[in-house]
Amino acid sequence: MSNGRSEAPRNKTEDDITTEVLERFSDTPDPRLRQIMLSLIGHLHAFVKEVQLTEAEWFKAIEILTEAGKMCSDRRQEFILFSDTLGVSMVVDLLSHRKPERATESTVFGPFHRLGAPDMPAGGNIAHTDEGTPALVSGRVLDLAGKPIAGALLDVWQAQPNGLYDSQDQHPEDLNMRGKFHSDRDGHYLLRTTVPVHYPIPSDGPVGAMLKATGRHPWRPAHIHFVVSAEGYEPVTTHIFDRRDPYLNSDAVFAVKDSLICDFTRHDGGAEGQRYGIGGPYFAAEFDFRLAPAAGGAVDVEDAQRRLAALGARA
Ligand SMILES: [Fe+2]
Repeated sequence: MSNGRSEAPRNKTEDDITTEVLERFSDTPDPRLRQIMLSLIGHLHAFVKEVQLTEAEWFKAIEILTEAGKMCSDRRQEFILFSDTLGVSMVVDLLSHRKPERATESTVFGPFHRLGAPDMPAGGNIAHTDEGTPALVSGRVLDLAGKPIAGALLDVWQAQPNGLYDSQDQHPEDLNMRGKFHSDRDGHYLLRTTVPVHYPIPSDGPVGAMLKATGRHPWRPAHIHFVVSAEGYEPVTTHIFDRRDPYLNSDAVFAVKDSLICDFTRHDGGAEGQRYGIGGPYFAAEFDFRLAPAAGGAVDVEDAQRRLAALGARA
C-alpha cells in the first residue's frame, strides 16, 4: 500500500464499506471539514442501513434532488424550503444564535428577503395598494438594560394581503411590502403596513410533494419579518407573529417562539390612525426589540446586511 493504509477486504460487507469510506476521508487537512465529513458519512450510512434503502428509493431520492435543483432560480430556493420544512433551518438558527436572557430571539430568515427595500420615515407605509386591513406596528429598540438604541436599522418585509410575496406575484420586478426604518433618539420605531395573513409556502415542487405525501399542510402563521441591527450590537433576524393565528402551533417551518407572538388590537379609527393616513378601522401592534452587545467588539453592520442580502437575493 503506497498510502500506508491497511489492505481493504475484497469481500465487503456494508460495514466494511462504511469503515473504508471513513478511512478515505480521515486525512482531510481542514479539521472542521474532516469532522463534518466523517460525521455526515457515519450518519448517512447508518440511515441507509437502518431503513434498508432500496435501489428504487435511492433513485427516487436522486430524482427529487435533481428536481429541486431545477426549480431554483433568482426567485425560488427549493433547498431552503427543504431545510425549513425539515426543521434544519431552525436547529441551525438556534445553534448559531444563542441569545442572552432578555435579548429578542431570532427565527428563520426565509427565502423572501430582497435587496433594494426603500428607506422610509417613521410611519411610512410599506403597502403599495389598498388591499388588506391597515395596521400600525410600533415599539422600541433597546439594549439588554432597557436603554433605548437610537438609529437602529429595521429592515422589514411581509407577505401581501393576497398571501404572496411581491417576488411571487404577477409583477415580481415591483417591490411591495418592504421598507427600511430607523429608530429615533428614544429608540422608537413606527411603520404602517397591513395586518399580516397566513400563507402557504410554495408547494408546487418536490417540497410540496413531500408535505402532501406525509400528511402535512404548507401553511405559515401570519408574521412580519425583521432584521434589526445597530452598531455595537448583534443583529437579530426574526419575525413577529399575530397571536390570533390558527397555525401558530403547526407552522410548516417550525419558526414560532412564544416570545415573538404579539397582539394586534383593533381600533375603530381616530386621530392616531388619521395621522398616518388611515381613515377607518385599523389594527395596532407593539413590539420591543432587545439587542445583545456584539460579541468581541463592534459588529460591522453593513457587512452583516450584505451577507443577509446576498442570501435574500435568491428570492
Ligand atoms: Fe414570511
